[in-house]
Amino acid sequence: MKKESKGGFSGQLGFVLAAAGSAVGVGNIWRFPYLAAKDGGGLFIIIYLVLVFTFGFTLLTSDIATGRKTQQSSIKAYDTMRHGWGFLGIFTFFVPVLIMTYYAVIGGWVTKYIVAFAQGSTADAAADGYFTGFITAPYAPIVFALIFLFFTAFIVYRGVEKGIEQCSKVIMPILLVMIIVISIYSLTLHHTDESGLTRTGIQGLAVYFIPNVQGLTVSRFFQILLDAMSQLFFSLSVSMGIMITYGSYVKKDVNLNKAVSQIEIFDTVVALLAGMMIIPAVFVFSGTEGMGQGPGLIFVSLPKVFDAMGAAGRFIGLAFFIMVAFAALTSCVSVLETITANCMELFHSSRKKTTLILSVIYAVASILICMGYNKLYFELPLPNGSVGQLLDIMDYISNSVMMPAISFLACILIGWILKPKWIISEMESTGHRFSRKKLYSVMVRYVMPVMMFLLFLESTGLLGRLLTK
Ligand code: PHE
Repeated sequence: MKKESKGGFSGQLGFVLAAAGSAVGVGNIWRFPYLAAKDGGGLFIIIYLVLVFTFGFTLLTSDIATGRKTQQSSIKAYDTMRHGWGFLGIFTFFVPVLIMTYYAVIGGWVTKYIVAFAQGSTADAAADGYFTGFITAPYAPIVFALIFLFFTAFIVYRGVEKGIEQCSKVIMPILLVMIIVISIYSLTLHHTDESGLTRTGIQGLAVYFIPNVQGLTVSRFFQILLDAMSQLFFSLSVSMGIMITYGSYVKKDVNLNKAVSQIEIFDTVVALLAGMMIIPAVFVFSGTEGMGQGPGLIFVSLPKVFDAMGAAGRFIGLAFFIMVAFAALTSCVSVLETITANCMELFHSSRKKTTLILSVIYAVASILICMGYNKLYFELPLPNGSVGQLLDIMDYISNSVMMPAISFLACILIGWILKPKWIISEMESTGHRFSRKKLYSVMVRYVMPVMMFLLFLESTGLLGRLLTK
């Protein structure tokens, strides 16, 4: 009865593309390249790759298999797994609830840049203060956020197969082709600055790929490791109930081993390509200094790069922001879908009604978050050392505090209370061998709990405090 109203993916391809759609988002395109630039180029990449196929694999497997085995979303799933663990489900549910307050706002920023490049306002978009001017404006960011939210809600409203699966099947292949084309273009760039120094895209590629171990200390290495780890969680959309919900829509005959590997590979390849696209371009026009921009990279540094490209910049910029919007849309859809699915199970309400009510709630929330940059502006020092506004606070609580705590608890539940067999049996239920079975057991029982605990201490600022004491 429940499954009929719930719907599901038509098969393996639909599931893999939808899950990859959730995983591939602004995290891959903006955050990965900026962390790689900051954390020693190839050094970060090597560490990240090792983590994807150990930590990422473990978390992704746990979430997807939990979803398919219980056929439920996080709130009910954890309670079904073990009576008394429903609290972990509720805790997990709150991550997308918080992320959704600001994800459409960021989607709105991207949409604004699409419009700017489509109109040919390349020089305006590249001017100093353009981004800040836009996000602090009273109405424009709200309008763009609501447009983005409308598209997201429309897809969720149409349902799992007709909405999410269909749009992912169209968007994800286009996104992949676009990112490959722009990254090849990026490698062909070269520019001579006023001092006569010529920099080429290939040199930029070397900055990106060659490990930079200059001045590397043990504590710096540890810092890079933790950066890579938190990037990995965010990037794979794990430990927030999203992959549990998507897993619950997968047919029982789909080979989950293969699906997990394909999602891991898709997400990682896009992150690597995003770096190949952005780092050489920024390097050619602004040198290594241009990369120290941090979060401002795609909204501040890149428009300057597109402007410096001349006539082609308008089209490359437009293609770039359309691609980011696609990536953000399929991620935002997965966040809203997870909240919708949990609410449908909780309140036994229909998909259409639930989506409509949630859209109204999140329209209000998005407006408030936009106002966080003007009327509701404040500066709050966060325990991890940064200073945040409303959006950063939501991001901080969901990603830095809740996600490592959830992963830690989920690993304890699966590794020590239910035992890894609980997941392994689901992975092998189709008769396929679970090839990384041993790795999974060791990771989920021993390695993950320790590392998750450390990550939690680090991202809440407690580790720094303990070490300096
Ligand atoms: N995984 C997405 C990315 O890499 C981000 C995301 C986070 C999506 C949380 C959904 C939920 O950008």
